[in-house]
Amino acid sequence: MSYPSKVKMVEVGPRDGLQNEKALIDVKHKITLVEQLADAGLSMVETGSFVSPKWVPQMADSAAVFAGINHKSGVTYSALTPNLQGFEAAMSAGADEVAIFGAASESFTQKNINCSIAESIERFVPVLSAAKAKGIKVRGYVSCVLGCPYEGEIAPQKVADVSKALLDMGCYEISLGDTIGVGTPLKTAAMLSAVTKVVPVEKLAVHFHDTYGQALANILKALEMGIAVIDSAVAGLGGCPYAKGASGNVASEDVLYMLNGMGIKTGVDLHKLIAAGDAITQALGKTNQSKVAKAKLAAS
Ligand code: HMG
Ligand code: MG
Repeated sequence: MSYPSKVKMVEVGPRDGLQNEKALIDVKHKITLVEQLADAGLSMVETGSFVSPKWVPQMADSAAVFAGINHKSGVTYSALTPNLQGFEAAMSAGADEVAIFGAASESFTQKNINCSIAESIERFVPVLSAAKAKGIKVRGYVSCVLGCPYEGEIAPQKVADVSKALLDMGCYEISLGDTIGVGTPLKTAAMLSAVTKVVPVEKLAVHFHDTYGQALANILKALEMGIAVIDSAVAGLGGCPYAKGASGNVASEDVLYMLNGMGIKTGVDLHKLIAAGDAITQALGKTNQSKVAKAKLAAS
């Protein structure tokens, strides 16, 4: 079995993690978190999101977070932007890169961004052209790639079709999201085989939530299939508003421990990452969801 020699870890804790935390946390703690993550060696930190504050109040202060961070050279600080309004706000705030987000499920798209899949693609067009004019890279997310909270099973071909549409629009990378964490390794493989027929593997990332404890197994399968970009959230921050009792993203510390154990290079320092996760979980008053962090902190 061959694995990539290097993996890019995309840290989504400050956005995907904190957007789903019940406790609202102040800007100061968010800034510290982003800075600690960059300092740990992560080259991409999804720092916030420019969406309607009525839909996601946790992200309403994203401009203040961008304004407060000390930008470290070599680090990309990115933001989620569902439409042109969000894109312009992200540019004013100083985001280096943006991400649009669609889904392979019609019902999820309606609940998440209030339109159909076809309409969502139309809404992304002006974001892509404005980004192109400014030389800003755009990442594309596809949610519900292994299941939808409303529709259940999602056909791999549907994921491939939406991924291809985002690629054709100009997204430089497609991040495939198991939004509710229901996937298992063989389903992951089937979905990835459909997607890699239409999107080159080097343009794909995987984004697993860990609701059923399958994320690392699924990531291992994705690595075997040549995927070398992995999204994760420090301390396994977050949850999912669409699945009661759901966990957040796979913990970055756990992904890093696995990659280190496999001799795969990331440039990320485990001790610093654990310290970042420890600080934010204490600020939130919640238990650290990373098994690696728990074990290392207990041993120290
Ligand atoms: P809408 O109601 O259809 O939009 O929502 P609208 O254009 O009709 O505007 C309605 C109001 O929203 C207006 O304000 C706009 O100004 C405002 P009002 O006049 O009522 O006061 N508005 C905005 N405000 C701030 N920033 C904006 C913006 N756009 C409009 N960019 C909309 C459509 C997309 C805005 C809404 O549905 C929304 O904000 N949804 C966000 C949902 C979200 O953030 N979900 C979480 C991220 S996705 C995710 O987590 C999955 C991922 O992690 C991958 C995975 O795990 O699968 C990426
Ligand atoms: Mg997510």
